[in-house]
Amino acid sequence: MRVAVTGANGLLGGAAVAQLSEKHEVLAIGRGPCRLSPGAFTWAEADLGDGRSVEAALREYRAEAVLHAGAMTDVDGCEREPEGAWRVNVGGTEQVARACRALGARLVAVSTDYVFDGEAGPYGEDDLPNPRGAYARSKRCGEEVALLLAPDCAVARVAVVYSGRAGAKSTFATQVVEKLSRGEPVKAFSDQVVSPTLAESGAAMTLELLLATDYRGVLHTAGATALDRVDFARRVAARFGLRGEIAPVRTADVKLLAPRPLQAGLRVDRAAALLRAKPLAIDAALDRFHGQWMSRGAA
Ligand SMILES: NC(=O)c1ccc[n+]([C@@H]2O[C@H](COP(=O)([O-])OP(=O)(O)OC[C@H]3O[C@@H](n4cnc5c(N)ncnc54)[C@H](OP(=O)(O)O)[C@@H]3O)[C@@H](O)[C@H]2O)c1
Repeated sequence: MRVAVTGANGLLGGAAVAQLSEKHEVLAIGRGPCRLSPGAFTWAEADLGDGRSVEAALREYRAEAVLHAGAMTDVDGCEREPEGAWRVNVGGTEQVARACRALGARLVAVSTDYVFDGEAGPYGEDDLPNPRGAYARSKRCGEEVALLLAPDCAVARVAVVYSGRAGAKSTFATQVVEKLSRGEPVKAFSDQVVSPTLAESGAAMTLELLLATDYRGVLHTAGATALDRVDFARRVAARFGLRGEIAPVRTADVKLLAPRPLQAGLRVDRAAALLRAKPLAIDAALDRFHGQWMSRGAA
């Protein structure tokens, strides 16, 4: 099967390309040159924000299934540049959905817990979104444009994505390891409840959703444990045997451009019932994260 992945240089997209290329023909679409380890895939450079190029790449490849993981993910960057957030997260998703419609391809568009306001999480798929801030609004509109235009479409929501694989971008989890290893303190929000998602686990769930189910609509494919960021940092530290200061801070005491959902988190019971690739509880996810980190150190 010809499967395309957008955001292929990203945390989740990169993990998906690695998993797919063992079994399928893969078109990996990213902005700029490929930063993935070499593998059995074709690379296409295309900008989700430029109007047509991603749509053209998908049509030319005659994609049969598309995992749309590309997005402007810098939450405060989106707040500074809402037109860019619209162009990439809504316009880019529109391009992908139009191509899927024309090709009869199945689409899974990846989205976020930020579509919720964070007043009463963890949230299930049937809870009503109430996005706050430019990133959140653009992702919610992206969900709708995907579901509207692509006839065979699911939206997969994840949260606080992280990975320990070599070359993966820096995240809160990797910063906890790096700072504590250097003896530096870590600041963590005590009032933000999240459902951290190991990229490789999120990729496995979203790919199964794409290729092995006909589920349509929204599905939460995040990690199985909702916890606050201080607790998350402490568990990362414990798994790595690291001591040091983890200083709790409150969101309101830090100057952030975009609002953050506080009592967020995603309920994943539906994914657990539907998929063979199960949402990982935090300790199992951190075991894998630790293993990735150790093999990257050895590489
Ligand atoms: N990261 C999180 O904590 C998080 C949380 C909830 C939901 N999500 C959602 O999960 C999905 C996957 O994100 P991720 O976690 O893998 O984040 P990521 O590592 O930031 O990946 C996003 C990818 O999109 C690419 N991209 C950005 N602008 C682009 C453009 N104009 N044209 C083409 N590609 C562009 C980025 O390219 P570059 O690598 O060149 O920057 C990056 O590779 C997204 O839909 C995101 O909204 C992420």
